[in-house]
Amino acid sequence: MKTRLIAHRQVSAIGLGGMPMSIEGRPDAARSVATIHAALEEGVTLFDTADSYHVHSDEVGHNETLIAGAIGSWGGDTSTVLVATKGGHLRPGDGTWTVDGRPEYVKQAAEASLKRLGGDAIGLYQFHRPDPAVPYADSIGALRDLLDAGTIELAGISNANPEQILLAREILGGRLASVQNQFSPAFRSSESELRLCDELGIAFLPWRPLGGILSAAALGDRFPAFQTVAAARGVSPQVVCLAWHLSKSPHVIPIPGASRPESIRDSVQAAEFTLTPEESATLDAA
Ligand SMILES: NC(=O)c1ccc[n+]([C@@H]2O[C@H](COP(=O)([O-])OP(=O)(O)OC[C@H]3O[C@@H](n4cnc5c(N)ncnc54)[C@H](OP(=O)(O)O)[C@@H]3O)[C@@H](O)[C@H]2O)c1
Repeated sequence: MKTRLIAHRQVSAIGLGGMPMSIEGRPDAARSVATIHAALEEGVTLFDTADSYHVHSDEVGHNETLIAGAIGSWGGDTSTVLVATKGGHLRPGDGTWTVDGRPEYVKQAAEASLKRLGGDAIGLYQFHRPDPAVPYADSIGALRDLLDAGTIELAGISNANPEQILLAREILGGRLASVQNQFSPAFRSSESELRLCDELGIAFLPWRPLGGILSAAALGDRFPAFQTVAAARGVSPQVVCLAWHLSKSPHVIPIPGASRPESIRDSVQAAEFTLTPEESATLDAA
């Protein structure tokens, strides 16, 4: 599997997003474990999760526990695996999502995630979403303190605009490793953040890269240009889509979600699949 960098850590060019395995509509645990094991077998070394990927209020960290357990029960070498989690977003259990960006909360959430994930430090800890009630600099100050304390190895942010990226980079003293924003054929307005990360050499992790849990299967119908390239090249439109993400910058690392082994086994093919410049231009315009 081709690799890309998040700061100094080399990870697979295609990661696995854990959300579909823990929120509404999730499969049973056996299928989730099989999906994570399939990813590891294919050479995936980046797993994206969050403490808020759960349904009920008493199961915070459901997805972190699932991923850590499945990595632990896999028989192969997992020494290069990077688990990227997030804090600052909460699910009270009624189907809604809330935010808490108070520095004391973010630090407490990171400590709890570290307990669930195990090990000496969290590989990549991302501040999940800006909290309008808390100055952004204060929330990012918590990431700086977590880095300094060694609780987290790398720090990232999510759902950030260009000003917030620059502010986070400044507060972290240049140690901003990644930005995770929504980006897909249906949602391209994060192109400015993607370009900024490319310029600064910061990893850009597009979330919902295939259009989301409910729409990913229909990608080829919704965006016929992706279907046309897929048919001509003998791969799925999802592989074409992930290759399109990868073609945008060497700093882009898509994290497609999956709840079935077949999905991630198909998606990883994008790492070895190169679009021609003409195909990329057609997809950019589609
Ligand atoms: N930072 C944030 O605020 C934020 C927000 C949302 C998501 N995320 C992260 O981003 C990740 C990706 O987003 P997402 O999971 O919402 O959406 P997505 O990756 O666009 O779509 C996920 C769905 O795509 C399907 N799929 C994956 N590969 C496929 C393939 N090759 N062929 C056909 N279908 C395929 C999967 O189906 P099956 O389930 O049937 O396998 C899965 O349910 C999440 O898992 C999460 O880690 C972050």
